Amino acid sequence: MAKVTLVGLVIFLTVCISIYLITLIHLTSEDRSSYDDYLDNLRGQFSHPRSHMRRISYERQAPLERKTRLRFMSKLVDGRSLSTTAAYEPIAAEPERLHISVSTVPSFTVPVSQVDESVTVVSALLDIGRGKWWYYRRPFEIYLDYLEQMLRLDVNMVLFVDKKAVDFALKCRTHLSSKTVLYETSLADVPLWNYRQQMIKVVELEQKNFRAEWDEAMRHHPEASSADYDLAVNSKSYFLYNASVQNPFHSSHFVWLDAGYGHGTREVFPKNFRWSPTFPPGKISLIKLTPTTDLLDNYPLEKLYRQDQSVVSGGFVAGDRTTVGTFHSLFEQQVFALLRDGKVDDDQTILVLIIRAYPQLFNVVHGDWFDAFRLFP
Ligand SMILES: *[C@@H]1O[C@H](CO)[C@@H](O)[C@H](O)[C@H]1NC(C)=O
Repeated sequence: MAKVTLVGLVIFLTVCISIYLITLIHLTSEDRSSYDDYLDNLRGQFSHPRSHMRRISYERQAPLERKTRLRFMSKLVDGRSLSTTAAYEPIAAEPERLHISVSTVPSFTVPVSQVDESVTVVSALLDIGRGKWWYYRRPFEIYLDYLEQMLRLDVNMVLFVDKKAVDFALKCRTHLSSKTVLYETSLADVPLWNYRQQMIKVVELEQKNFRAEWDEAMRHHPEASSADYDLAVNSKSYFLYNASVQNPFHSSHFVWLDAGYGHGTREVFPKNFRWSPTFPPGKISLIKLTPTTDLLDNYPLEKLYRQDQSVVSGGFVAGDRTTVGTFHSLFEQQVFALLRDGKVDDDQTILVLIIRAYPQLFNVVHGDWFDAFRLFP
C-alpha cells in the first residue's frame, strides 16, 4: 500500500515539474515583455524565480499605504539563466500616454511601455539638400534599405526623420509601435542651424583657398564640401541628448546608431533583432577603428583636419542619461571652438578631440565600423 502511495506521489511530482518546465520553455521562446509579465506575477510569491521554496516576506512588512514598491529586474542571460536584481522604486502614477508628433500621418497615441527597458536607441535621417541624405552620394533608396534593417531592432527607439522618410519609418515600425517615438524633423530644427551661415562661409573660403598641407583628395569629401553635412552629423549629440531629456521609455541608457548602421547587412545585427546591451556607468562608450597600440595622442587636430583619416566611428555612441548630457555640452563646445578658429569638420574629428581632452569620460573599445552589437551584446 505504502509503495503505491509513493509511486503515486512520484508520478504527481513528475507531472508538476514537467508542466513547470514546459511553461518555462514556452515563456523563454516568447518576447521579453511577456516574460516580464510572467515575472511580475511570480514576484509576489517567490523570493527568487529559481528557488521556489521560500515565500517572500517584503509585502507583509511594508506599511499599508506604500510609497515605494520592490521592483524585480530580470534579465535572460545567454537565453537561459535568469539574472535578477531587486530595488525599491516609487510607485508610478497611471502610465502616461505619449503623443507621436507626426503631422503628415494621422496622429495616434500609444501607451508607454510599462516595463522599464534600460536602453533607448536614437537615430536620425535628414535630408541635407539637393537629394543628398545624411551620407555622401548615396541615393535615398539605398538609404532606406539600410534604415530598414536598423528599424527591425526590437528595442525602444526615438527617431528624428525627414518628412520624406516618415511613412517608410512608421511602416517599418508598425509591429513595434509601442517601442517607437518618431519626430518629423528637418535640418532647420536642430540648434546648430543657427550657425549654418558661419559653416557655409568656412566651406566657401576653404574651397577657394585649399591649403597645401591638406589632402587634396579631401576637397570633395562631404565634410569639406557641404556645410549641411557637417551640420547634420554634428547634431548627433543633440539628438541623443534630446531623447535623454524626453526619455519617453524611462530608460537609463541611450544609444546613438547611424540610420545606415550596418549598411543593410543582416549579419551585423543580433539574432532575432533583440538587443539589451550594458554599458559602464559614467562613460560614453564608442568604437575606435585603429589598433589599440595606436594612441589618440597621435592625433592632434592637424592630423585629422582635411586628412583622410578615420580614428573612431561616429556610428555608435552610448551612455547613461547624465553622461549623455555632459557629452552633448562638450561636443557642442568643441564644434564652436573649431568654428571660432574658422574650421568645420565631421563628428569623427570632434569625437577624437573631446576624447583627447576628457579621456576619463570615455570607454573606448577597439573594433570595426559595425561591431556595436558584437562588442556590446
Ligand atoms: C526635442 O526635439 C523635439 C522635436 O524636434 C522638439 O520639439 C523638442 O523641443 C526637443 N527637446 C529638446 C529638449 O531639445
